[in-house]
Amino acid sequence: MEKQLTGTLALAVFTAALGSLQMGYSLGVINAPQKVIERHYARSLGVYNEDLARREGGNATEHEEPSDPSVVMYWSLSVAIFSIGGMVSSFLVSFVSDFRGRIKGMLAINILAITAGLLMGLAKMGTPYLMVIAGRAIMGLYCGLSSGLVPLYIGEISPVKFRGAMGALHQLAIVIGILISQVIGLEFLLGNDDMWHVLLGLSGAPAILQSLLLLLCPESPRYLYIKQGKVEEACKNLKRLKGDYDTSKDIAEMQAEKEEAMKEAKMSIWRLLRSSVYRQQLFVALMMHFSQQFSGINAIFYYSTSIFQTAGVGQPVYATIGVGDINIIFTLVSVILVDRTGRRTLTLVGLGGMCCCAVAMTVGLAFQDVYSWMSYLSMTAIFLFVSFFEIGPGPIPWFIVAELFSQGPRPAAIALAGCCNWTCNFIIGMFFPYLESLCGSYVFIIFAVLLFGFTIFIYVRVPETKGKTFEEIAAVFHHKRGAPPSKPQEEVEMMQLKSSTEA
Ligand code: GLC
Repeated sequence: MEKQLTGTLALAVFTAALGSLQMGYSLGVINAPQKVIERHYARSLGVYNEDLARREGGNATEHEEPSDPSVVMYWSLSVAIFSIGGMVSSFLVSFVSDFRGRIKGMLAINILAITAGLLMGLAKMGTPYLMVIAGRAIMGLYCGLSSGLVPLYIGEISPVKFRGAMGALHQLAIVIGILISQVIGLEFLLGNDDMWHVLLGLSGAPAILQSLLLLLCPESPRYLYIKQGKVEEACKNLKRLKGDYDTSKDIAEMQAEKEEAMKEAKMSIWRLLRSSVYRQQLFVALMMHFSQQFSGINAIFYYSTSIFQTAGVGQPVYATIGVGDINIIFTLVSVILVDRTGRRTLTLVGLGGMCCCAVAMTVGLAFQDVYSWMSYLSMTAIFLFVSFFEIGPGPIPWFIVAELFSQGPRPAAIALAGCCNWTCNFIIGMFFPYLESLCGSYVFIIFAVLLFGFTIFIYVRVPETKGKTFEEIAAVFHHKRGAPPSKPQEEVEMMQLKSSTEA
C-alpha cells in the first residue's frame, strides 16, 4: 500500500525548502539596517562626519542621513545587485539541475551561499561596501539558481495529491525567511552598529545545514528514470519517498513522460523560445511570474516602512513585522487549500482581491488628510493586499511551471520563468520610488489596472492543473490548441525534434 507521506519525503522537502528560507532571509535582511550600514559605507569612503554626528546628539542612529552621493550609489547597488545576480543565474538552472542531478546541483550551489555569507559576515574587516556588494551579488546568483532548483525537486518528488501543498512550501519558507530577517534585524537585536555584519553574514547559515541534510535525501526518481535511464535506482528512491508499495503505476507514468521526452529531444532555452508546440504553456508560465511581480507586492515589501509612515502609522517597523506575520498565516492557508480549491481559483481570487485592495489603498492614502479614519482604510487594505497575494499569486507561479511542462522542456521553462521573475523584481525595486514620487498616493492605481488585466488573463487562459499528472496537463494544452499533430507546422516541428533525438 502506497503510504505517500513518509519521513524521508518530509525530510527531503524540508531540506530543499531551506534554500527558499535563505532566499527569503536575503530578500528581507537589507531593509531594517539600512541607515546603520550606510554609515559604515560613509566611514570607509571617508565622507562620514563624526563631529557632526556627536554634535547632533551623540547617538549614532540620530545622525542618519549620510546623503553623500557615493554612499547612496553604493547602497542602491548593494540592494539591486541581488536581483541582477538572480536574473543572470536563473538561466543556468537547466544546466545545473541536469548536469549531476537535483541533489548534487543544490549541494554545489551552496558554495555560493556560504561564500556570500562569509564575505558579508567579515565585511568589517575589509572595505565594507565592496564586501557587501560582492556578497549580495553572489547571494543573488545563489538565489536565482535555488528558486529554480527547489520547486523543480519538490515538484518531482511530491505525490500528485499533495503536489500543490508541497510546492507552496517553497513560498512558505520564503516568507518565514523574510520574517526572521525582519525580527532579528530590529535595532536591539542585530540591526545595530556592532552586529549588522553578523546579521548579513547569517544569510549563509541555512546553506551549511542544508548541505549536511542533502546527503540524506534521495535523488529525484524522475531525474534518475527519465534523464539517466536508471530504473532500479528510480524504484528504490520511489520506495524511500513513498513507503514500500507497488511502484508500477508511477513507473508507467514516468515511462509515458520519458517517451514524450524522447520525442521532444533536449530542449535548450533557445529552442523552447522558438517552439510553437510549447508556446501556450510558456506564455502562461511567464505571465504567471510577470503578474506575481507586477502585482506590486515588492513595492510593499521593500518600501513598507515608508508606506506605513505615509499612512500615519507611529511605529512603522512593527507594522512591517505585522505584514510579515500575515504573510506566513495566509501562505499556510494556501498550503491547505491549493490541492482542494485548485491553482486557478486561488490565483483568480488572489489577483482580484489585490486589485480591490489597491483601489482601497489609493482612496485611503489620497483622502487621509481630509478624513482621519482613512488611514485605517489604507492600513487594512495593505494587510489584505498581502493576504490575497499569499493565498494564490505568491506561491502558485513558483511551482506551476514545473507542472505545466513535461521532463524535456521543464528545466528550460523554469529557467526562463525564473529570469522573468527576477527581472521584474529588479524593475520594481529600481523604479517604484521614482514612480511614487511622480504619482504620489495615486501610485497604486497603476497596480490596480495591471491586476485587473492579470485577473482577466488568468480567467481566460489558465487551465486547472490540480490532481492531474504531468501528461494530462500537457494534453490540456494540446486539446486547447486543437491536437498539435493535426496542425501542419507543429507536426513538422515534432518530426524535426524527433529526428534530432534519433540522430
Ligand atoms: C514571492 C516573490 C518575491 C516576494 C515574496 C513575498 O516569493 O517572488 O519576490 O518578495 O513572494 O512574499
